[in-house]
Order: sequence, then structure tokens, then C-alpha cells
Amino acid sequence: MSTLTFTTARASADPAKTKTRCAIVAVFGNELSATAEALDSAGTLRAALKLGDFKGKPGETHMLPGIGNAERVMLLGCGERAQFNPAVARDAVQGLSTALNACSTTEALLHAADMLGDNVEGAWLLELVARTITVGSYRYTRTLSKPKDPLALKKLAVNPGKGLSSQKAQTALDQGAALGRGINYTRELGNLPGNICTPTYLASEARKLSRGNSKVRTQVLEEKKMRELGMGSLLSVSAGSDEPAKLIVIEYRGGKSGSAPQVLVGKGITFDSGGISIKPGAKMDEMKYDMCGAASVLGTLQAVIDMALPLNVTGIIAAAENMPSGRATKPGDVVKSMSGTTIEILNTDAEGRLVLCDALTFARRLKPAAVIDIATLTGACVVALGSHASAVYANNDALAEQLLQAGTATHDRGWRMPLWEDYRKQLNSNFADLANIGGPEGGSITAACFLAAFAEGYPWAHLDIAGSAWNSAPKGATGRPVAMLTRYLQDRAAG
Ligand code: BES
Ligand code: MN
Ligand code: ZN
Repeated sequence: MSTLTFTTARASADPAKTKTRCAIVAVFGNELSATAEALDSAGTLRAALKLGDFKGKPGETHMLPGIGNAERVMLLGCGERAQFNPAVARDAVQGLSTALNACSTTEALLHAADMLGDNVEGAWLLELVARTITVGSYRYTRTLSKPKDPLALKKLAVNPGKGLSSQKAQTALDQGAALGRGINYTRELGNLPGNICTPTYLASEARKLSRGNSKVRTQVLEEKKMRELGMGSLLSVSAGSDEPAKLIVIEYRGGKSGSAPQVLVGKGITFDSGGISIKPGAKMDEMKYDMCGAASVLGTLQAVIDMALPLNVTGIIAAAENMPSGRATKPGDVVKSMSGTTIEILNTDAEGRLVLCDALTFARRLKPAAVIDIATLTGACVVALGSHASAVYANNDALAEQLLQAGTATHDRGWRMPLWEDYRKQLNSNFADLANIGGPEGGSITAACFLAAFAEGYPWAHLDIAGSAWNSAPKGATGRPVAMLTRYLQDRAAG
């Protein structure tokens, strides 16, 4: 990863006097912002608008030769002044990120003060800028012999105007950059192929988070230990694979000692072939992404550690590979979970819930304030919500509301789904306490009902991210829902 830094700058009253390789100024439709106006003593910006090549639409950009001490001037379209709002600001900042990726400048100065208004708040905008440009700088390189050029930009200075203290501005930039790096880390883990990113690899990544940081401790439970704990459900998934399962526990202690931790539980199926209930061949490669829940736990923890949030957070990752073999679990097999509940495995492709249920039982030992599991759990979720929303299930209304709000604030949105007893009944079995599938109807909901049966005694939420965690065209992990989870934890840290 190249190093990209964000700093707070106080430009002089005359923006043409401030030295920069690229001054970025907002333009609202055909109306120059105050800073653009101040820069335009010779009328070149006005002339450029008159030509009509640049219309000032949200996210549209236009590069011009320099004025005064600014080597270049970038016009950043923000749409009509009266219609400027957080959604338009997001489009503008996305356009800025795209333009910076196409530009060879190593340094730039964004005059952000002109973009603030009644409903676009300074800290929010600066966090968004740092996050979006960091996320835009990500390149997948690991297994390419000719990777794309990295982003040329090394330093973005942001002038927040008078409304925000330099300290608050810098915190917003730092937190946005930390979130962006957490998102990129999650994307990288998701994008890595299954022959590199195994359960053992996830365990070594988790150990990296605690290296040299006394506030973080990583523990890895091996299969032998899991057997002693009675995790027959989790172990039934790795039974057919040559890769041993790992239960990874990462404890970040940024808060008061003894204060109950927020617990994140991630599905870490590093490849899901379906097992004996094997999947069809088309798009099976995408099942390397079946560890995106786990990757979001690691990315969120990285961001939280980076921000040094005053909060206790524990990540649990249930990592396994789901493969067919002579030792694999078969449809009809009955296994016993750590909770004592027996499970009839009617379909070995419904493996996510089998690893998560034992992790949820394990979570209870941590006396959690809340437990949130994150999983690419069901194809049915993709049918129900597509890629725009993560499904949110919860046994606690306040927790659900907090997650939905965090998702709205960061545009990493969730949508609440039901956990009614009527759906749970679809999991009844003649041969065990529960079946692991509930038939073709409401598949994301019955999967969540299965998990709910194990999430007892603490506030719990489940995020089905099967639709939101990756894109099929062009293929790539999105890093969701790291923004939602990190915002949720920032809000808890703020009290
Ligand atoms: N990892 C899949 C879910 C999935 C499928 C995510 C497609 C994203 C895209 C999960 O393990 C799975 O296979 N679920 C089955 C459950 C079924 C057997 C009840 C599914 O959704 O088909
Ligand atoms: Mn599966
Ligand atoms: Zn799966």
C-alpha cells in the first residue's frame, strides 16, 4: 500500500497565494464557489464555464492550468447550490477520487469550506473525503505480474474553513483514512484466492493485528480444542477438507477494564464448494468470497485499533473450508453443537450457520454487551435485497436501530428483516432438535432463525451480506459492512 496522508490546511485569505500542485475548488452548476471566485482574478475560471465543456454537475471535474501559486486548478462539480445535500456531496467526492486517480499530481489542496452547508457538516464531509480517496487508491496486486499503476497522490491537504477547529478537522480526516484502510484490508482479504487465503492464513492475519500492540490479544483455537469444547457443528464443516478449521479470537481492550465487550462474529468459509451437496460449476470461483464476514471483522478491528477507540471489542472468526471427500459430512448426518442442540444436516451447502452457531455459543462466555455476526449466508438474501442493502436481523430493537442508523450515516445501508416463530417452524426435524435448512421459502430468514436459536442471553444482530460484500462485474470485494460496523462502534465509544 502506498502511503497517502491527509492534513488540515489553513489557506491564506487569497487562495492564489497558497502554494499547491493542484487547488481543488467547488463549482455549483454554473456558479463559482467563494474560493473559486477569489482565485479567478483574471477571469479564466469564468471563461472556462462560459465555454460550456464543464457544467458543474455532481462529481464532474475539469482540470485547468495554474493560477498564482497553484500549479493546477481542478473544478469540482457540486450541482445546483440549492440542491446540495449529503447524497450530492458523496457523488462530488466520488468524482474527485476518480479524477485524482487519472491525475499525476502527488499533492493537492481541497478547499472544502465552500461545500459545507445546513445539512452537510464539516467533520462528516472531511471523514468522507479521506475515506473515499483512500478506498479509491486500492489496487489488487498480490497475484498480478503487471499490476496497475498506483495512485500518484501522496498528500491531500484539506482547508475546512472557519467552522471547524484544526484539531476536529484532523480527527475527521484521520478517522476517515483509518476507515478507508480498514475497508481496503477487508477487500484485499476477500479478493485473495482460496489457495492463499485459508483458515490458517486468516489466523496469521489476526495475529498481525496484535503484534506490537499491548491492547490487542489474539488466540487461535485448533480443531483439538474445538472438539474438547464440543463444537461438533463447526467441525462437521471442515471434516471434508485438508485445511484445518480455526476459531480465531481477537480481543481489543481500548475501553475500561471489565466493561463488557462489543463482539463481532465473522463467517470465514475460505472456500465453499457446497461439500457433498456440491454447487454447480458456474461462478463457483465466487465462493472464495465466502469469508467476507470474517474479513469485515478483521477490517473493522483494524480501523478501531487505528482510531484507538475507547471501547472493548472482541472479534471471533469461525474459519473453515467446505469440501467434499470420503471424510466429509453427508446429508442426513446429525451433529451435536456446543450448546447441546442437535442438528440434522439436510444440505451440506448450508454450512455458514453450522460454523456460526458454535461461535455464537462460544461468544456467551465473553459476557458481551452485544454480539453482531456478519456472514455471506444465503443466496436468498441476494434475491430479496440485491446488492444495495445488507439484511439486518436482531433479537433487540435498540441494537437493530443503532446498526441501521450507522449504515445510513455511512451509506453502507441495512434493512431490517423478521425473525418470526412462523419462519422458525420451517426448521423442525424428525431426527434432531433443528434441521439446517428451512426449505425454499424465505431462505435468508430461516437461516437467521437458525442462528437466533443459539444467540441466547445477549443482545444479538445478524447481518446477511451475501449481496453487499462483493460485486460480480467487475469482480471484487466491496469491503462492506466495515463502514456500518465501524460507525456503530464509534457511536458506542462516544457513549
Ligand atoms: N455461501 C453461500 C451463500 C451465497 C450464495 C452467498 C450465493 C452469495 C452468493 C451459502 O453457504 C450457501 O450455499 N447457502 C445456500 C443455502 C441453502 C442450501 C439452504 C444457498 O443460499 O443456496
Ligand atoms: Mn454454502
Ligand atoms: Zn457459504
